[in-house]
Amino acid sequence: MEPRDIEGDLTEILIDEEQIRARLAELCRVIEKDYAGKDLLLVGVLKGAVMVMADLARELVHPITMDWMAVSSYGSGTQSSGVVRILKDLDTDLHGRNVLIVEDIIDSGLTLSWLLANLKSRGPESVEICALLRKPAAARVDIDVKYLGFDIPNQFVVGYGLDFDERYRNLRSVGVLAPHIYA
Ligand code: XMP
Ligand code: MG
Repeated sequence: MEPRDIEGDLTEILIDEEQIRARLAELCRVIEKDYAGKDLLLVGVLKGAVMVMADLARELVHPITMDWMAVSSYGSGTQSSGVVRILKDLDTDLHGRNVLIVEDIIDSGLTLSWLLANLKSRGPESVEICALLRKPAAARVDIDVKYLGFDIPNQFVVGYGLDFDERYRNLRSVGVLAPHIYA
């Protein structure tokens, strides 16, 4: 199925491809300044952050390395449980490294707050967060996001890496799923 066909499954496009591109470029200019002369390790959280990682990394005019983690915080539903399990750990030793966690979305914040504490315990020089999306109305813990793309309403969104039942990750925009998809 072509991406242009599955766009009919959305009720609304919240953020389109060009808006994402422009915002990531703005964030990259700030990141380049903040890390001037320093090493930078981007840590992507699988699978949702794949698209934002790919675009952010290529937009950055800065030497970087990339590593990946896979964690699970959800059961089968769409509510964060706060129970986080590492499904795939980093290959990189974080001692003395400047780590930038790259995430797709901050919902309750429970996953990232756990991840932040976990990575900070590994002896890095610094750990910061870059997230494309945040749902302020869903926050259950306070997360200090240094680089944020967009605040969005408290709705379940898909596209640009975000899935419903593993689908829609390849949409170029971020949108809200139509109710008939859930039925
Ligand atoms: P928490 O609640 O711990 O959740 O901040 C973060 C993770 O949950 C997933 N998530 C979503 N995935 N559409 C999705 O496709 C959404 O609206 C959504 N909200 C949360 C996502 O994996 C994120 O990393
Ligand atoms: Mg995720």
